[in-house]
Amino acid sequence: MVWTSHPVTQITGTLRAPGDKSCSHRALILGGLAKGTSKISGLLEGEDVLNTGRVMAAFGADVERLGEGAWRVTGVGERGLQTPKTDLDFGNSGTGSRLMMGVVAGYPIEARFIGDESLSGRPMGRVLDPLTEMGVTYEASDGKRLPLTLKGRSDLRAMSYEPPHASAQVKSCILFAGLNADGETQVRESRITRDHSERMLRGFGADVKSKRDGAANIVSIQGGQSLIAQETIVPGDPSSAAFLAAAAMISPRGGVVVEGMMSNETRDGFYRAAALMGAHVGAEDVGSAAGERLIDMSFESADLKGAEIPVDLVPSMIDEFPILAVLAAFATGTTVVKGAAELRVKESDRIKAVVAMLRVNGVEVEETEDGFIVQGCGGAVPGGGLVETHHDHRIAMSALIMGTASQKPVSIDDAAMIATSYPEFMQHMKTLGADLRSA
Ligand code: S3P
Repeated sequence: MVWTSHPVTQITGTLRAPGDKSCSHRALILGGLAKGTSKISGLLEGEDVLNTGRVMAAFGADVERLGEGAWRVTGVGERGLQTPKTDLDFGNSGTGSRLMMGVVAGYPIEARFIGDESLSGRPMGRVLDPLTEMGVTYEASDGKRLPLTLKGRSDLRAMSYEPPHASAQVKSCILFAGLNADGETQVRESRITRDHSERMLRGFGADVKSKRDGAANIVSIQGGQSLIAQETIVPGDPSSAAFLAAAAMISPRGGVVVEGMMSNETRDGFYRAAALMGAHVGAEDVGSAAGERLIDMSFESADLKGAEIPVDLVPSMIDEFPILAVLAAFATGTTVVKGAAELRVKESDRIKAVVAMLRVNGVEVEETEDGFIVQGCGGAVPGGGLVETHHDHRIAMSALIMGTASQKPVSIDDAAMIATSYPEFMQHMKTLGADLRSA
């Protein structure tokens, strides 16, 4: 169904950020593995996360919804994962599927992983290759993609691994496998990626060591550790909040406060980049949850200037490039994104999808191998385009945000995928004053 975002003159209000997607997946997975009953509050009830919950139940965990965002998970504990009776459907989720491959690796069971069209096109070799070195076997479709059947083993070999891509999913997969391997497993990443697995594993009682070596980050985990049930409060998602923040920044009269957001240096690249472009970002400490600092953040209309986005920031804003491109379109001057080739293997080829989104709305943009270059319109983005979302939730939300401040409305071909990560997006945006209509 086509949705259209009509320009409005004001985006204002205070909202609570939806639960963080990465932490929500991990809370269900670790709760499902632990001994005892874990409680989760603030869980993101997006499709991706719900699929992970169903998968943990298929492995024998008891996963129960108590109320809005409140879940109870009784883990499999020492008896371990059971062979699932059905295929495991991960829908659109790269995170759920890749993390769970690491979990299955350490048990003598076989499981078939399936997903939607977008997920079935995404590369799994990045996790299958190191898992093979640890002793896992698999049968996959052409090009190491889903559907695939993975066979784990109880005598998994520990390993030291240096992933060729900056990827928290790969790091987490190997750490989760390492939890059941025969010695110490180590991941050395050349640039730190989101560290929620490390933090949450510690929260569930595991001994996980991290140390920095210049820009590199080395994480190690000893095999044979058990997890103990925990109470987890999921912090607000900085990636979802970035849409609300951007809407305030590009609005003629913008003033938005997002409460209860996670503050973590492995996730805040978008906010640093926006500040470099001239946005004023306010932050107030309000406590902590799930081993993460919590902040309330405030955003307002900004006179944005184009910028070269520092390559160092890329891993900490890897999901925010579609919405950063919207800021770049409204800025004065040129914005250059490079060192972001990973965007080609997200829910869509996000470099191509972002370039097409801007072009169809009258913004001058150049595609490069590992990024894009946007010539900003200085506030006057023409709009008027119909954006192809390619089953990508973040392209869909970015385009609708662009329409809130462009000269003509912006439409998207499909909004269904938004539910994978931010089911309340339409309602939240309407609360802030957006004019969103379905055809
Ligand atoms: C995620 C890691 C990132 C990110 C994804 C969530 C995670 O993927 O894009 O949305 O929860 O570990 P990569 O690890 O592939 O960069």
